[in-house]
Amino acid sequence: MNTVKTVRELRAAVARARGEGKRIAFVPTMGNLHSGHAALVVKAAQRADFVVASIFVNPLQFGAGEDLDKYPRTLVADQATLLQAGCNLLFAPAVEEMYPDGMGVQTRVSVPHLSEGLCGASRPGHFEGVATVVSKLFNMVQPDLAVFGEKDYQQLAVIRAMVRDLNMPIQIIGEPTVRAEDGLALSSRNGYLSPDQRATAPVLYQVLRALAEGLGRGRRDFSTLLAEGQAHLINAGLRPDYLEIRHALTLKPAVIDDRDLVILAAAYLGTTRLIDNLYLHLEEPAA
Ligand code: PAF
Repeated sequence: MNTVKTVRELRAAVARARGEGKRIAFVPTMGNLHSGHAALVVKAAQRADFVVASIFVNPLQFGAGEDLDKYPRTLVADQATLLQAGCNLLFAPAVEEMYPDGMGVQTRVSVPHLSEGLCGASRPGHFEGVATVVSKLFNMVQPDLAVFGEKDYQQLAVIRAMVRDLNMPIQIIGEPTVRAEDGLALSSRNGYLSPDQRATAPVLYQVLRALAEGLGRGRRDFSTLLAEGQAHLINAGLRPDYLEIRHALTLKPAVIDDRDLVILAAAYLGTTRLIDNLYLHLEEPAA
């Protein structure tokens, strides 16, 4: 697996693979890779002949006071993880390579509606930063397909909308969330948790499961269900940012006849912000 740092080298390597008739898959990341990321690369390798991954901690998607500076940079370990998972080429650019004229004058990509609310409410500008860097990376790599984790459910919805709206000829594949044995969704930010916080963190997923069970049993009293979930989070020592039941595709607040739902949550443990979600399809009509 080669690591390149410039767009020029990236394009030359991808052009060689294309010249050999290879189908190109792309897995964008911010590094500090865990087995959730490895699963994205494995999926990419199953669907294509040449897998490109990127590692770039994108300043444009971090707000003031967020964890841009302390976000873990672990390139050597990440290279080993990528190689093992079947990656062929790593693009690991510096900020100057991605934003040579500075971020202030960078053309932005903004995806309305889907970027609003949920994580967009507490992280203004976040999804514009994500959509902008992902569209730049897509133009640099020009893959046939790209794989993203479903853990960042709203991000995946934003990227699908961007690709559709801007007619990008790239197939977007969502890969299920990888969880620790106790249910906690794997995330680079889990590394910020103290041992006590790490022991509490699975409550986030337990609350999603409890809500899904209630909905599965036919409950449609969304606001009572959500209030119960909020109370559960608070009692366990988490500080909820949001807990919502939404339509799985539109991300609009769920209505009683919706069948495809996603329960989404974000909560703080100390200063660490964790997110998770659970998709469910309801067969039964409302009780
Ligand atoms: O999910 C991430 O790691 C990032 O938001 C992404 C998609 C690599 C864009 O910086």
